[in-house]
Amino acid sequence: MTDVSVSTRIRQLAQDLGAVILAHNYQLPEIQEVADLCGDSLGLSVAAAQSQAPVIVFCGVYFMAETAKILAPQATVLIPEPEAGCPLADMITAEQLRAFQADHPGAKTVCYVNSSAAVKALSDLCCTSSNAVEVIRAAFSPKDEILFVPDRNLAAWVAAQLPDHRIIPWKGFCYTHHRLLPEFILQARAAHPEAEVLVHPECPPQVTAVADQVLSTGGMAKHVAASSRSEFIIGTEQGMVWRLAHDHPDKVFHHAFSAMVCPNMKKTTLSHLLAALEQRQHAVTLDPDLAAAARRGIQAMLDLG
Ligand code: 13P
Ligand code: SF4
Repeated sequence: MTDVSVSTRIRQLAQDLGAVILAHNYQLPEIQEVADLCGDSLGLSVAAAQSQAPVIVFCGVYFMAETAKILAPQATVLIPEPEAGCPLADMITAEQLRAFQADHPGAKTVCYVNSSAAVKALSDLCCTSSNAVEVIRAAFSPKDEILFVPDRNLAAWVAAQLPDHRIIPWKGFCYTHHRLLPEFILQARAAHPEAEVLVHPECPPQVTAVADQVLSTGGMAKHVAASSRSEFIIGTEQGMVWRLAHDHPDKVFHHAFSAMVCPNMKKTTLSHLLAALEQRQHAVTLDPDLAAAARRGIQAMLDLG
């Protein structure tokens, strides 16, 4: 079957099942094109929480589908390629978090949404890259000690925005974003002096320091749509450059570093998506008590937002 006929079949099956297909902005172009909605972690979580669909098919990495299941327990949540994980999320286990908390009695715990349900269940508050600064500012006072897990780069970005807060980072990082170096930004700026530089807060602090804007992928989409500028340098996973170029054919986008590819985000193919719908396969399952405990911090985030 050609890609077009596979996509047509996917849309037909989704309609027959009453399924909604959600895709992260880093997914392959053909997956983004066949999805009902593309977005960042927050946008897709909100979509899952508000969805009335009996079936949610989540094209992304595992923690994202798991978050959708936590927020929509009544729905069947399918992940077409369950082997698509997030190495950043895997950088802290529940056991490691318990030990971290034991070393800091009385501290509050904030988990980035890129974490397992077990880590979320031990956290006071969840956040995404688009709301981390706002929800931490709203939820905690500067006298609180805050353990931030698992991404040290997002923790550093939040700490720079909230200099009075006491943020203690876990040591995790995203391999894909960690590869972006400040010299690549400087080279891209020299080659494209009119362009505005947008980077993701998972990039190292030396990179966020030389960017014009530090934004989640959804924040980048909104910023570009509202901007009168016509040229941008994008410092995040390369799927986002496709998303922006697709939505804004009148604007020009340059990769800050074209080797920024998340292999896990590229694992989901049209064949996986078709098989998931045909066989209703790879449903996310979660212990109800664990899901309820993990939901508290996510709900607290959504309520603050
Ligand atoms: P966004 O929520 O900004 O899309 O980020 C998710 C992610 O995994 C970034 O690597
Ligand atoms: Fe995880 Fe990084 Fe891939 Fe995002 S880009 S899903 S943080 S490994």
